[in-house]
Amino acid sequence: MGDAPDTPGTAAASPGAEPDVAVGALVREGRLVRLRTHVPANRSAFQRWYADEEIARLVRHDQEPLNEVQSRGYFDTIILPLTARGLAYAIHEVATDALIGTTALTDVSGRRWGTRSALFRIVIGEKDRWGRGYGTEATWLVAREAFETHGLDQVRLEVFRHNPRALAAYRRVGFRIVGEHTEWVGPARTQLQVVEMALDRKHFVPDPISTAEDPRRGEPGMVSGAPPPESEPV
Ligand SMILES: CC(C)(COP(=O)(O)OP(=O)(O)OC[C@H]1O[C@@H](n2cnc3c(N)ncnc32)[C@H](O)[C@@H]1OP(=O)(O)O)[C@@H](O)C(=O)NCCC(=O)NCCS
Repeated sequence: MGDAPDTPGTAAASPGAEPDVAVGALVREGRLVRLRTHVPANRSAFQRWYADEEIARLVRHDQEPLNEVQSRGYFDTIILPLTARGLAYAIHEVATDALIGTTALTDVSGRRWGTRSALFRIVIGEKDRWGRGYGTEATWLVAREAFETHGLDQVRLEVFRHNPRALAAYRRVGFRIVGEHTEWVGPARTQLQVVEMALDRKHFVPDPISTAEDPRRGEPGMVSGAPPPESEPV
């Protein structure tokens, strides 16, 4: 596990100019994916992912894709500043170093009732990379960032009931369902079942590959975790 930042691709020559780097600095290395910082060069891929209708149905509460202006604003005013704070990450495939997705910790809350938490978000934007274990491992790497780098006590997330792939990935990392609510969205008042999940630092398995009992442990593409009991309250 190489956690130390490395040197970005190519640096801008003139001081004060927007850094012209093709690839961000390394944040965390996994077996299948690595987290890097986001760089402006990632914007066009990010915009393509958020313009996709299938992805919008899986991640957006309004179920609508973002247009070019909206996704540019999202990337430039939210993702890049979060990156500067060490809270948003580009997901790269280890085998090719290709940019395949984005993930972030947002809405970091203060020490309310003794708990500091953040909301987890993830999109593997390159759809041909779905179902290979990448999302599970990226989630696990971000959880490590949350607990080990940022000292958070809990990571929360919301996931739609119609997204079984995401639900399975989160369960494998150790997230537990802590609630569920219904939203009615858009002009058609479409019903949306929103599952609320949480992962506490005290329940997090920091090295699931070496500690889990899962028989699939060590298979290529598989990150195994031993999720804590579903019933235990947060
Ligand atoms: C959700 C997402 C991050 C998951 O990443 P991924 O790399 O595709 O998923 P993984 O391969 O790591 O894990 C998928 C899990 O779902 C299971 N799965 C795959 N397809 C499934 C399906 N159609 N139904 C049920 N489970 C499915 C797999 O078996 C695996 O679970 P397991 O490890 O317990 O066997 C990714 O698919 C994605 O970004 N999707 C679009 C955006 C999105 O939905 N973001 C999450 C919003 S909350």
